[in-house]
Amino acid sequence: MPAARIAVIEGDGIGKEVVPEGRKVLDAAARLFGLDLRFDDFDWGCDHHARHGRMMPEDGLDRIAGHDVIFLGAIGWPTVSDVESLWTLLMPIRRNFQQYVNLRPVRLFEGVPSVLSAPGPIDFMIVRENNEGEYSEIGGRMFPGTDQEMVIQNTVLTRFGCDRVMRFAFDLAMKRKRRLTSATKSNGIIHTMPFWDERFRAVAGDYPQVATEQYHIDILTAHFVRRPASFDVVVASNLFGDILSDLGPAVTGTIGIAPSGNLNPERRFPSMFEPVHGSAPDIAGQNIANPIGQIWSGAMMLEHLGATDAAAAIVTAIERVLASGENLTRDMGGTASTTSLGQAVADALSVHPAEVRRHG
Ligand code: IPM
Ligand code: MN
Repeated sequence: MPAARIAVIEGDGIGKEVVPEGRKVLDAAARLFGLDLRFDDFDWGCDHHARHGRMMPEDGLDRIAGHDVIFLGAIGWPTVSDVESLWTLLMPIRRNFQQYVNLRPVRLFEGVPSVLSAPGPIDFMIVRENNEGEYSEIGGRMFPGTDQEMVIQNTVLTRFGCDRVMRFAFDLAMKRKRRLTSATKSNGIIHTMPFWDERFRAVAGDYPQVATEQYHIDILTAHFVRRPASFDVVVASNLFGDILSDLGPAVTGTIGIAPSGNLNPERRFPSMFEPVHGSAPDIAGQNIANPIGQIWSGAMMLEHLGATDAAAAIVTAIERVLASGENLTRDMGGTASTTSLGQAVADALSVHPAEVRRHG
């Protein structure tokens, strides 16, 4: 792997606590596998907003467009409205950099208590559309503050946008178990969701080897709880994917471990790796947040950069530490701190014996 330029944005709240743990593990992996990881820090977020009146500088996107990847913690703090903090930082990155796939793995780890008594082996991928859908600026408000006050927000689905995220999901399914589930709601949402189903059928035509199924989002959430082990790849619109990607990890015990990759599969722009959890103001600053979502996001980032062995070694280290039952944070039933769990994963990192020869 050539030298990698990584833009780091810790952001807000627990982002400032979990990103350093992610870096600790990435640095350890870099030493073990001889990777050249070059980190550049960007102090963007709600503190930056307090100092400068904006979440990032005006030319912020230009400053990170030349990096290979972005390693992000979390964005949002009660002092800045969500519309301002998210739509002037997180959303512009996801959209301008065409990160149209939000890939969110869901796994049950040994050692992490699930909320289910007999969960089975949960291990699936959510492919969330990340650039359009229900998250749209199309709409507005009329007659504010009066009795006639009204708001409209339009969902935007394009053929191009549906097809490209669905193709990604089918390609992923081809590499896994050749099974793909689509989340829909075409019985209640009568324009956009039937279109989603139509595009799903059309794209499926190019993948005859993949077995497909589709469920309305309401019953799909029930299936996520009742038989989570039966899913392998799930493709969903922006909002449905957002909801499913909190529910899935919650079923496996905690959303604190869930990672994500905001991917620009064509690599025209940097992709961004961030945990699924947010800035969590309620537990921020206490050194109790779970750093695994950030650390695992770091593994996804290395995989994207082509450092597959190092990525796999981080996931193995996570598995070992969680299975040992020591160093678990509160959300997983333990009492460990953010820093001690991060250190434990860094310490557990090792090159697999079969790989020693290759890496010297
Ligand atoms: C996520 C988050 C964001 C989203 C919020 C903070 C806008 O929930 O990454 O899942 O909805 O995409
Ligand atoms: Mn979310």
